[in-house]
Amino acid sequence: MIKKIYFSEIESTNDYAVKNIEHIQNKTVIIADVQTKGKGRNGRSWFSEKNNLLVSLVLKPQINSSDISGINTLVHYAAVILSRVFKKKYNLDTEIKWPNDLRADGRKIAGILTEAVIKGDCVQGIIIGIGVNLNMNEKTIKKINQPATSLNILTGVKINKDEFLDFFLNEFFLEYNKFLEQGFSLIEEEYKMLSMVLGKKVRVVVSDKEYCGIAKDIDNKGQLVLNCNDKEEIINIGDILC
Ligand code: BTN
Repeated sequence: MIKKIYFSEIESTNDYAVKNIEHIQNKTVIIADVQTKGKGRNGRSWFSEKNNLLVSLVLKPQINSSDISGINTLVHYAAVILSRVFKKKYNLDTEIKWPNDLRADGRKIAGILTEAVIKGDCVQGIIIGIGVNLNMNEKTIKKINQPATSLNILTGVKINKDEFLDFFLNEFFLEYNKFLEQGFSLIEEEYKMLSMVLGKKVRVVVSDKEYCGIAKDIDNKGQLVLNCNDKEEIINIGDILC
């Protein structure tokens, strides 16, 4: 049973979920019309004006903190599911920029920020924060600090936010249990097909280090395998610059 909690305005749906994790049941979706402190990855902010999808999905799989690496790829799963939604419901092709940026027409259309709340060796919950540009105009898009686009612009129609969310939730939970059993192998092939980086030369920033090389593979843990001057680098988390 999926529970939905709505806010017309909130600082960040992810922050709300983190703060209230003990009282939030498994499979709850926190939805906001507007966020005043929407968070992106790596301390960036997320453009959070009205008419876009701003949600956090709270999951409470039965795992210990020692098993957390097994569900690190939940973010890859969420990216593949989002991509399926764009294709199945809106006939829009998207690409994934490792690890979990969704791009359409070469520009960002959605982003995912996952957080885990851990107490001792107990995983209290996983929060999958999802922002999708659903209804924007060229003027508001310019406020985003990177090339971005929006679903209404690419389809030419106003997007119904509730319809988008329900379609996503339905797709997400169709294979969620299977994903918990099988992990990344369930979506590995599809993820790689959707990847826009494989075979390309990329620059990746990992905290204060930068790697430059050919993106050779995504391994079975969802990590990026880079070939940097014949030296293999395996990157667990980072930001691709180009
Ligand atoms: C990124 O691409 O940098 C990730 C963006 C994630 C944005 C969403 S919007 C809903 C949820 N609440 C937040 O504060 N952030 C995520």
